[in-house]
Amino acid sequence: MSESQTSVAVVTIDGPSGSGKGTIAALLARELGWGLLDSGALYRLTALAALNHGVDFSDESSLEVLAGHLDVQFLPSERDGLVIVLEGEQVGASMRTEDVGAMASKVAALPGVRRALLQRQRDFAEAPGLVADGRDMGTVVFPDAVLKVFLTASAEERAKRRLEQLQQKGIDASFDRLLDDITARDERDSQRTVAPLKPADDAIVLDSTRMSIHEVFNEVLKQMRLKGLL
Ligand code: DC
Repeated sequence: MSESQTSVAVVTIDGPSGSGKGTIAALLARELGWGLLDSGALYRLTALAALNHGVDFSDESSLEVLAGHLDVQFLPSERDGLVIVLEGEQVGASMRTEDVGAMASKVAALPGVRRALLQRQRDFAEAPGLVADGRDMGTVVFPDAVLKVFLTASAEERAKRRLEQLQQKGIDASFDRLLDDITARDERDSQRTVAPLKPADDAIVLDSTRMSIHEVFNEVLKQMRLKGLL
């Protein structure tokens, strides 16, 4: 039994930012009545905690300690789905900005930070099951997952989706700037030496460039049925 193996069923959804994996993971967890791990949130919160404590993003040993002791709670809420509390303060939508995503991508490239967050992520696997969303869920954190999905889409399509999301919230943004940010983040997440963004050998790769969320979700459910999980 590998050290990561748990008796709890885990489905992993990995992929680049903007591929729709967060939406699919949340829909699937709700459909199955399973827990949900948004692993990107842990990297985003580590970056925010570093800002709060004035820790430099190049100071790997301090960041490792910070990540290992991250005082965070994920509280289910009727109204908002999930409330995240970091060091006693509720974290709002600011955590989801491109800037925090870029900072998260920088701290996530440090092996010490990934080491500190590894067991913490595995602890989310509780009965009846877990849907885990991230970059290395199927390759590193849950290599024994019962189903691994790698969701991708072209960078242009992902920038377009992000622009639409921001416009719906009344936030002004530039397509070219979003595309540059997405490309830079893809590059950093895929080229790093530890746990780079890539599909597990046994992952099902889905390109959602020309698929609706509904179509992707149905495809994932089909794969669950094929594996006898539904
Ligand atoms: O999924 P997200 O956009 O919230 O993730 C933010 C950053 O965190 C992403 O650019 C890379 C990093 N990350 C990671 O390295 N490994 C994960 N499992 C999840 C996120």
